[in-house]
Amino acid sequence: MSGMEVTREIAAARAAVAAARRSGQRIGFVPTMGALHAGHLSLVEAAKHDATYVVVSIFVNPTQFGPQEDFARYPRDEAGDLRKCEQAGADLVFIPTVAEMYPPAGGATTVHVARLTDTLCGPARPGHFDGVATVVGKLFNIVQPDRAYFGQKDAQQLAVIRRMTRDLDWPIEVVACPTVREPDGLALSSRNGYLSVDERQRAPALWRALVAARDRIQGGERDVQAVTAAMRRVLAEAEPAQIDYAAVVDPDTVQLVTRVEGPVLIAVAVRIGATRLIDNVLVDPGAGSA
Ligand code: PAJ
Repeated sequence: MSGMEVTREIAAARAAVAAARRSGQRIGFVPTMGALHAGHLSLVEAAKHDATYVVVSIFVNPTQFGPQEDFARYPRDEAGDLRKCEQAGADLVFIPTVAEMYPPAGGATTVHVARLTDTLCGPARPGHFDGVATVVGKLFNIVQPDRAYFGQKDAQQLAVIRRMTRDLDWPIEVVACPTVREPDGLALSSRNGYLSVDERQRAPALWRALVAARDRIQGGERDVQAVTAAMRRVLAEAEPAQIDYAAVVDPDTVQLVTRVEGPVLIAVAVRIGATRLIDNVLVDPGAGSA
C-alpha cells in the first residue's frame, strides 16, 4: 500500500506534483525510457534519499532516435517497470503517450545545446541530443522538480542537460549518479538485452579499455594519443566490429583534449554486432595516482 500514483496525462502529473509541493515536500525527478534496471533504480534511490516526493517518468522519446535506430524495437515492459517503481518507493509515475507529449498538430520548438553536442555521440547520432534536450526540457516544465537525477553512464547527455538547465535558468539541481555495472564491468543498459551470448562475452572490453586508460593516466601518462592507443589495443583484442570513438574530453565542455591537465572524461562507443554500446569513466589525474 505505497499509494504510488500513475498517470499518462500532463495535467494530472502537474496537479499531483503541485499538491505535494503545497504540503511542503521536496520534489525529486528521475526521467527514464523504461525497461528499468538496477542503474535506473539507483537514481530512484538517490532521489528518495534527498527528496520526500519522487517522480519517475517513463517515455520512449521518439525524437531522440534516428530513422535507422531502434525506436520501434526498444524494450518496453510497462507492468514490470511500474512494479519496480513501486518497490523503489516512487510516489508518482508519469507515463505519457507519444500524442500527449507531441500533439499531432506538431511542435515548432527545439532545444539545441551547441558545441557540447559536436563531439563523441553527436556526429554519429544527428539530432539525438536535440531530441533529448527538448524532451527533458518539456519534462522539467511539467514536473518542475527541485532536483533531477541522471546517470554518469550517459556522460555527454549529463553535460548537455546541466548546460541547458544553467543556460535556461531553470531552478533545478542536476544530480549525477555513478554508473551501475555488472560484475564483469559491463555498464547496465536497456540495450544489453540485444547482445547475443558471444557478443555479451565481448562487451566487457569497453570497461577494460577504460580501466587501461585510467591506469595509464594515474601512472603519469599525460599524452592523450598514448592513452587512446592503449584503449584501442584492448578493444582490438575483443574484436568488436567497430570502434566509433575512444576519446578523452573535458567533462564539462565535452571538447577533445590533447594533454591531460585536469579531470578528464574517457569515453568509448563501440558497435558489437548490431548493438552500439557506450561507456565512460571520469579520471582526476591529481587524485589516486600515489
Ligand atoms: P534511459 O536510457 O532510460 O536512462 C535513464 C537514466 O538512467 C539516465 O539518466 C541514464 O544515464 C541512467 N542510467 C542508464 N544506465 C545506467 C547505469 N548503468 N548506471 C547508472 N545510471 C544509468 O537517458 C535516457 O533514458 C533518456 O535520454 C532520457 C534522459 C530519459 C530522455 O528521454
